[in-house]
Amino acid sequence: MANILILGGTAWLGRTLAAQAMEAGHAVTCLARGKSGDFPKGMAAIEVDRDGDGAYAGAVSQQWDLVVELTRMPAHARAAVEALSPRARHWIFVSSCSVYADHSTPEVPEEAELLEPLESTETYTPELYGQAKSGCEWLAMATRGNAALVVRPGLIGGPGDPSGRTTYWPLRLADPRGPVLVPLDDGSAYRQHVQLIDVRDLAAFILDAGLAGRTGAVNAVGQAVPLQDALLAAREAAHANPQIVPYRLSTMVADGVSPWSGPRSLPLVLPLEADYAGFARRSDARALEWGLERRPLEETFRDIIACEEPWAGRQLGAGLSAADEGQLIDIARSKAV
Ligand SMILES: NC(=O)c1ccc[n+]([C@@H]2O[C@H](COP(=O)([O-])OP(=O)(O)OC[C@H]3O[C@@H](n4cnc5c(N)ncnc54)[C@H](OP(=O)(O)O)[C@@H]3O)[C@@H](O)[C@H]2O)c1
Repeated sequence: MANILILGGTAWLGRTLAAQAMEAGHAVTCLARGKSGDFPKGMAAIEVDRDGDGAYAGAVSQQWDLVVELTRMPAHARAAVEALSPRARHWIFVSSCSVYADHSTPEVPEEAELLEPLESTETYTPELYGQAKSGCEWLAMATRGNAALVVRPGLIGGPGDPSGRTTYWPLRLADPRGPVLVPLDDGSAYRQHVQLIDVRDLAAFILDAGLAGRTGAVNAVGQAVPLQDALLAAREAAHANPQIVPYRLSTMVADGVSPWSGPRSLPLVLPLEADYAGFARRSDARALEWGLERRPLEETFRDIIACEEPWAGRQLGAGLSAADEGQLIDIARSKAV
């Protein structure tokens, strides 16, 4: 049994990781404010705001076999690793593929150039996410003399995705009401792909790699599949045969439709420029060598449909509202005539 500290644990991935670790018989402590969600039941909790002084005082009295850090704030990353590194046998920083400086080339390995690290004294804003994660990586590695593991997930998906990016298509395709607007990849400077890792597979990988004492950086990504195949997997998971209205991505900009996320967006669709040709085609070679196991995409989509509320025209964190979809269907049909 390992003694595991999760710096987080009240949000999606951290909570999944905490549950899996507890199920495997480990002792788990979560350190957070309890704002993103409740502390997971049956585990020790250190309720604290990391913006305050002495935030780690409740954790320094123990010896940790594994610390898993989920932050995006270099100031938090610095204070935590400085306070707790002497108490930690192994350290994992959950980073992101957003740390890479370039997204234009498929299959580049983990040694590719990173964004300039955001300093721990600089203010974090969501626009600086990639730089901030790069800064957090640097702090973990530098403080621990490279004896740390940096896990870089790509798009995380599955039941409970708070962003709505990976739940939109299966839920929409399972909704029996009306035709469904589905993207047709005719406008990209490259072939659009989807590379989604199920949150449960990611959590298992982080735990296994951490307990095995792995060090260095690793991309933790799903299998890259063409966008059309991912949408087909969502249709098959939905067990429905809705009327499909193809929507040409070449008209996206003119129609005021965004790729990826946010309101009036097409989730899983990337920007059309060649700069994104490698974004959903990261190298997974190292993760597979280390034993990453991934369930089929269709299974992830099936579980989303089983676990989530039906779409029923509501606005998720990403995707089209019923009104926007109806308007775009009219546009698509008028162009098809
Ligand atoms: N979603 C994706 O597709 C994707 C892709 C690549 C990488 N990632 C990375 O994957 C991880 C996802 O983690 P997650 O789902 O567990 O969600 P998260 O929102 O990134 O987790 C942040 C955790 O930090 C805690 N926290 C935030 N501010 C705090 C403060 N001032 N004091 C104490 N605790 C604080 C939050 O808890 P409280 O609010 O309760 O305090 C929460 O438990 C992140 O590292 C993210 O960057 C995500």
